[in-house]
Amino acid sequence: ERRKALPRRPPVVVIMGHVDHGKTTLLDYLRKSRIAEKEAGGITQHVGAFEVKTPQGTVVFIDTPGHEAFTTIRQRGAKVADLAVIVIAADDGIMPQTDEAIAHAKAAGARIIFALNKMDLPQADPERVKRQLMERGFVPEEYGGEAIVVPISAKTGQGVQDLLEMILLIAELEDYRADPNAEPKGVILESKLDKQAGIIANMLVQEGTFRVGDYVVAGEVYGRIRAMMDADGHQRKEAGPGSAVQVLGFQELPQAGDVAEWVPDLEAAKEITEERKEERRAREEAERER
Ligand code: GTP
Ligand code: NA
Ligand code: MG
Repeated sequence: ERRKALPRRPPVVVIMGHVDHGKTTLLDYLRKSRIAEKEAGGITQHVGAFEVKTPQGTVVFIDTPGHEAFTTIRQRGAKVADLAVIVIAADDGIMPQTDEAIAHAKAAGARIIFALNKMDLPQADPERVKRQLMERGFVPEEYGGEAIVVPISAKTGQGVQDLLEMILLIAELEDYRADPNAEPKGVILESKLDKQAGIIANMLVQEGTFRVGDYVVAGEVYGRIRAMMDADGHQRKEAGPGSAVQVLGFQELPQAGDVAEWVPDLEAAKEITEERKEERRAREEAERER
């Protein structure tokens, strides 16, 4: 019941699928619809994720190349995305990487939505793809099952609104909530070394609120947050659940997929990361001896 009192958070979605089935085109379409909305036109910052706002609600899409974080964090039993949109080109049908994507999404505990893409093509054969899905145990809703299948064209934008509405409907049913006052926790989506700014980490905040000046630990590295910037290029003093931000202040490069956790002070940060490094070294040693 306490949970009910917590504020809702936007659903976090990852897009996966076979090569050339249209993942990037779909992300580009969604990103453009987002940018077009804000005529103000600030400098957009690459934060590893972006928000699409609709009258029905906000959806966060992870746009990290290769979705490293998604894969890494999955192996650690945590989770980045609530939902996985699996893009299947309707002219090509289910291919090996489609099956891989399905397996990844399942292992990650992400709910799957199938987007039958390239519906604008005359060769598109959605019925064939639905049969292929049924062979794998995914029975589309129209055939009495529970698999969600949305026909789209990432190129023309046809059906993309339906896809967004479907995501928001699931989010409403699943009732995603997060506590902005909990101990802050997030996940590193990417990181890089910038000549001017130093180490830049893209982080998705999952719980609590990170603030400038906070100490943070991610895997074996730590830092003190010096600055945060959102996708619109705005400096942020704080970032709550569902925000994706660039974080400055890590001492070393965190890894995509690392869980980022708030710690009270420098001492704790050093202690935790040292412990983790030692544990890893011990593990590596043990492996060598075997
Ligand atoms: P990889 O990242 O290489 O795995 O590919 P991808 O899944 O990101 O596919 P991408 O978006 O690069 O699209 C591959 C090709 O399909 C491009 O030539 C796109 O223009 C085309 N394409 C993508 N979506 C559609 C669509 O809805 N209709 C049509 N006609 N072409 C599309
Ligand atoms: Na491609
Ligand atoms: Mg691509």
